[in-house]
Amino acid sequence: MIFMTKLAMDEEKMKRLIERMKGQMDISWAKEEGMLERFGVQDGHSILEVGSGPGFITDQLAQLYPSSQITSIEIEPYFAAFASSHLAPKWGERVKVLVDDIAQPQKTSIGAYDVAIVRLVLQHLSDPGKAVDQLFRLLKPGGKLIVLDVDDTVWGIIDPVFPELGFVMNQHAKEQSTEGGNRFIGRKLWRLLRSSGFERLDLQMIASHSDELGVQAFLPQTDPDEMRTMVSSGFITEAELEAVQRGVQTFLETPDAFVMLLMLAVYGEKPL
Ligand SMILES: C[S@@+](CC[C@H](N)C(=O)[O-])C[C@H]1O[C@@H](n2cnc3c(N)ncnc32)[C@H](O)[C@@H]1O
Repeated sequence: MIFMTKLAMDEEKMKRLIERMKGQMDISWAKEEGMLERFGVQDGHSILEVGSGPGFITDQLAQLYPSSQITSIEIEPYFAAFASSHLAPKWGERVKVLVDDIAQPQKTSIGAYDVAIVRLVLQHLSDPGKAVDQLFRLLKPGGKLIVLDVDDTVWGIIDPVFPELGFVMNQHAKEQSTEGGNRFIGRKLWRLLRSSGFERLDLQMIASHSDELGVQAFLPQTDPDEMRTMVSSGFITEAELEAVQRGVQTFLETPDAFVMLLMLAVYGEKPL
């Protein structure tokens, strides 16, 4: 998924991206809820959510923690407006969505939050360490930081495997790195938290797989129209895009096809 905060992106593309983010949440949220509980997040905690995108995770957090105040920050005004449009009528003042940049937050209060959740955001930042330093400032002493992100080396399993997909994923990682991001951020998360001063670190994996959810649940992750942006940016050719789509089709028609996606969850606490 490529974010184009600095580039013009038409509304149609934004809508597709939003759909994809919804699908991405659907496949792993149940497990993420369990993880939040294991990391000690409780109802009543004040929660800062960073890079909230279209606000689907925000909505889940508001349901899960009905007495919590939730502040979400999002750099992309289109996403923030979309999120506010469905969150404000449902949750009122309890949930706020602010347009802000975690690298230099202007609208959040220092030392104000019990919990910060940063899901699939650090991979897009050119200086993730700066963002983690800011999160350290924004949390209360004893506050909990939970970062969820990927590392493309351990992205998951696909069986039967088709090489065209591996190629497109590699090109996707290259494209993201030319924009300053890093799809191999997973391996750096623990060190980033430790360097910013977090303690009591933990690392867990969240696995979503098709034996539990069905292969169809994973289809939004291979949206051909979204991959087409890689053709326009020159990272793959139309022929390579078509090859990966044929591979997806063959995969779907294979009895016992299996897919598993992995996400890393790294936890740290600001010392008291
Ligand atoms: C992959 S989306 C994840 C959205 C949401 N966290 C989720 O898991 O569904 C990453 C989001 O981070 C936002 N973002 C990127 N850089 C940011 C920054 N510096 N500060 C705040 N948000 C940022 C993007 O605009 C995008 O909405």
